[in-house]
Amino acid sequence: LPWQIRVADEIPSTSDALRAYALDGGSHGQVLFAESQTAGRGRRENRWVAPRGLDLMFSLLLRPAEPMVLWPRLTTLAALAICRAVETELPLQPQIKWPNDVYLGGKKVSGLLAEAVNTPSGMAMVLGIGLNVNSRDFPGELATTATSLSQALPGTVLVRELDRQAIALSLLRELEAQFQRLAHGFTEVISDVRERSWLLQKQIRATVDGVEVYGRALDLSPEGHLILALADGTHRTLASADSVRQV
Ligand code: BTN
Repeated sequence: LPWQIRVADEIPSTSDALRAYALDGGSHGQVLFAESQTAGRGRRENRWVAPRGLDLMFSLLLRPAEPMVLWPRLTTLAALAICRAVETELPLQPQIKWPNDVYLGGKKVSGLLAEAVNTPSGMAMVLGIGLNVNSRDFPGELATTATSLSQALPGTVLVRELDRQAIALSLLRELEAQFQRLAHGFTEVISDVRERSWLLQKQIRATVDGVEVYGRALDLSPEGHLILALADGTHRTLASADSVRQV
């Protein structure tokens, strides 16, 4: 694998650490896992809270060769990699919720945080991934919106603790394999994504820079952007969104 892997026991945030490392000239391919984060971040000022040692939390430092307009492809490929790794390891069928969540049975099992970092040696991308593996007791509202691999396993599958290391290795292997596909274009990737897409054909409300957009999720563009069919019959393409909900 092309990754250089480190594991921190406790750290504020793996993404913050790799951002600092990127600013310091850190090179492509660094991966940092944490057993526990004290200031884990989600998108939109959200916190990412996970119990120690049960789930997977890590970030990758990428120095993509692609122009920034194509970086959404990397997020999409990472979501696909998560799905493929889970499918390989377990009898589960995850779905991609554009732009950066992975769902199981309509609940969020994984979140991606893609951040650009302007470093002296060029633009870098820090991709943070949180995957709920063995967590089972989700507090408050999360009880209805979040799940874990272990919780989502069908009742007939006997669950002990799932092997996080095996899942992590499978994830890193898939991330490498999926990123390699960029060299061959995105068309073939999109069909794999379409098959696993939670959003496509649904009526949705997206928030983009504080503005709400309603439409039917039609397809993904070759850039990895979401194409919406609006009520007035026109199409609108979103490069990203702050939030996306089914309505
Ligand atoms: C989201 O769903 O909003 C994205 C969640 C991303 C969480 C991961 S955990 C590892 C990495 N470090 C962080 O502080 N956040 C990401």
